[in-house]
Amino acid sequence: MIRKAQIADVKNIQKLLMTFANQGDMLSRSLSELYESLRDFYVAEDEGVLLGAAALHVVWDDLAEVRSVAVVEDAGRKGIGSSLVQACISEACEIGLKRIFCLTYKPDFFAKHGFRLVDKAELPQKVWGDCIKCPKFPDCDENAMILDL
Ligand SMILES: CC(C)(COP(=O)(O)OP(=O)(O)OC[C@H]1O[C@@H](n2cnc3c(N)ncnc32)[C@H](O)[C@@H]1OP(=O)(O)O)[C@@H](O)C(=O)NCCC(=O)NCCS
Repeated sequence: MIRKAQIADVKNIQKLLMTFANQGDMLSRSLSELYESLRDFYVAEDEGVLLGAAALHVVWDDLAEVRSVAVVEDAGRKGIGSSLVQACISEACEIGLKRIFCLTYKPDFFAKHGFRLVDKAELPQKVWGDCIKCPKFPDCDENAMILDL
């Protein structure tokens, strides 16, 4: 089941993101950040167990980011990540956004959902607020991708 995240999910979302952050696949998020952005998040749940998460974060009048997309390793390749990304895309359409971007090491996964690779310089400066928190800053090797809605 894909649903909006609830307060009780936050600690499990943080654990999930931490697993992949420790492998260098994504940024970790503090509990404070997660509570503040809780309404950005969708989760995938099966019988009370959190299997995945993804967030749609509005950045500007025509732009949002899909971020913190993660699926527990044992539940991978079953379409859960895709369902979470589709939930973010649907909401972006509903609220009138024109573009969604992502910064990712998994370009093939996002390409399946229509995202195309772009030069990072195409993204507005406001996007880079989180980068200062990244251990790789300023030598970013993530792929920037955009989906036009
Ligand atoms: C990337 C990730 C979210 C995919 O979730 P998932 O539930 O396994 O994805 P799906 O089952 O919906 O996969 C859909 C398709 O995307 C592609 N895909 C999935 N995982 C992929 C990966 N790791 N690398 C490249 N392509 C991938 C495949 O083509 C897959 O279709 P297939 O299984 O028929 O070949 C998951 O592997 C993950 O959490 N990875 C670690 C965190 C991360 O890197 N997140 C993305 C950056 S924000």
